[in-house]
Amino acid sequence: MDIKVVSTQPIEGQKPGTSGLRKKTRVFMEPHYLENFVQSVFDAIGGAGGKTFVVGGDGRYFNAEAIQTILRMAAANGAAHVIAGRGGLLSTPAASHLIRKNATDGGLILSASHNPGGIDEDFGLKFNIPNGGPAPEGVTEAIFAATKNIGQYRTLETPDIDLDALGEQKIGDMVVSIVDPVSDYAALMQELFDFGAIKDLLASGFRLRFDAMHAITGPYAKVILEEMLGAPAGSAINATPSVDFGGGHPDPNPAWAKELMAELMSDEGPDFGAASDGDGDRNMILGRNFYVSPSDSLAVLTANAHLAPGYANGIAGVARSMPTSCAADRVAQDLGIECFETPTGWKFFGNLLDAGRATICGEESFGTGSNHVREKDGLWAVLLWLNILAKKRCSVADLVQEHWKKYGRNYYSRHDYEALPKADASDLMDRVAGQLDTLPGKSFAGQVVDQADSFGYEDPIDGSKSSNQGLRIRFNNGARAVFRLSGTGTEGATLRLYIEHLETDPVRLTQDVQSALSLVIAAAHEIAGIGRLNRSGPDVIT
Ligand code: G1P
Ligand code: ZN
Repeated sequence: MDIKVVSTQPIEGQKPGTSGLRKKTRVFMEPHYLENFVQSVFDAIGGAGGKTFVVGGDGRYFNAEAIQTILRMAAANGAAHVIAGRGGLLSTPAASHLIRKNATDGGLILSASHNPGGIDEDFGLKFNIPNGGPAPEGVTEAIFAATKNIGQYRTLETPDIDLDALGEQKIGDMVVSIVDPVSDYAALMQELFDFGAIKDLLASGFRLRFDAMHAITGPYAKVILEEMLGAPAGSAINATPSVDFGGGHPDPNPAWAKELMAELMSDEGPDFGAASDGDGDRNMILGRNFYVSPSDSLAVLTANAHLAPGYANGIAGVARSMPTSCAADRVAQDLGIECFETPTGWKFFGNLLDAGRATICGEESFGTGSNHVREKDGLWAVLLWLNILAKKRCSVADLVQEHWKKYGRNYYSRHDYEALPKADASDLMDRVAGQLDTLPGKSFAGQVVDQADSFGYEDPIDGSKSSNQGLRIRFNNGARAVFRLSGTGTEGATLRLYIEHLETDPVRLTQDVQSALSLVIAAAHEIAGIGRLNRSGPDVIT
């Protein structure tokens, strides 16, 4: 084996964000860019020597080329074995499962999640640790530090391997196992859910539509929903992964999953609709003429998870990211289980899941998952919903409305202002931060501030601390506004304003969301001076 040691220099800005390193594809394609980062990952984890890794991605532009580079570098760094998905494909949750199932030393997942793909769009790479979850901050900081010190990387001069050939091949001394990306994951789903009950539901005329958005979940949905559960062929749409996701944003929300929304928001629509994102970890759930907000979905799943065999003994606890609505908190209270509020990003759930303190976790950003893997999981959420509906035999709308009657409804919305000049965004955050101490007692749009702070988190398992995780303003009627800057954007800065208001009056549970929140929105605008951004409105409202 002829190892090539290539001299290089640190490249600025290789700092992993909310979910790994995300950059424009062309940036990743620049000389040494990918190599520097991969070598830094290996250096930060004490070398790759003798180790086993899982490698796969969401199939976006540059996926296959980047995997060939990673394989050569892994071999040159002494790795013993890499398990890769056929065609270089693995959904993020399936990668997490393979990392765990094979007791590996971690994995490299290539994805920019819901961001568009293509040579002029986005690419990403993240390292997951042996528990299957995204590297925690200690590890990402070590990776970033390594990127600032790098002087050389190791690779081989070998031809590309055939990523489509199932079975074992060798690169230098390293074994590469190419595996079917779907089968192990599908087997795990079959253990967790009552496939018989879901099959009966689908056979009874219950119609479902799943939109894979031209991304990774297409092959998974075809096998699980159509072949194993018997949904009619064509129930999964846009099910062939493409390098640019059909030119769209593979982001399962009402703004981007327009085709699915149009079909479901009709009296003749299917009973159930769902979509997943670029790498398969997000989900959106719809009923006929009914949209389920992700925060409500988390609460409904928490309340009903015991109907699925994998959770029949109940759940230990629920965790949500801070900006996610408090709907799950009241379910936790009712069930007498623990409820955790963590910073944004799935990595903060890892310790709670490992310690058995949380079983189900969720984020307002269309992410839900459980202790079966260490990532959020789009198809898992779809199957848990189907399992619950199969047992309850009611509509999505009835299930959620009954939930609101019991627990109240947390009206909730997120307003995103995208690609802002960085200075404008940080001025706004400074403006709000500067007022935190003096806000309590003041009134805005008729609402009095009760508490205001900058969210900090101390991990209850390992005591690690994370500060500056968003600015929270609570009003004395229980309403809440949260300001945060995105950690995944690749252009300028993205401001996220999260607004929430709890309604318990049974006759006020079905108002229009934006109208129900209008006073809290007005108060948030006044406090932050959002008018000074010179935008006519948010770019995306979810
Ligand atoms: C966004 C979401 C966050 C999610 C992350 C990765 O991060 O808000 O909940 O974990 O994408 O999917 P943000 O851009 O807000 O930092
Ligand atoms: Zn994703």
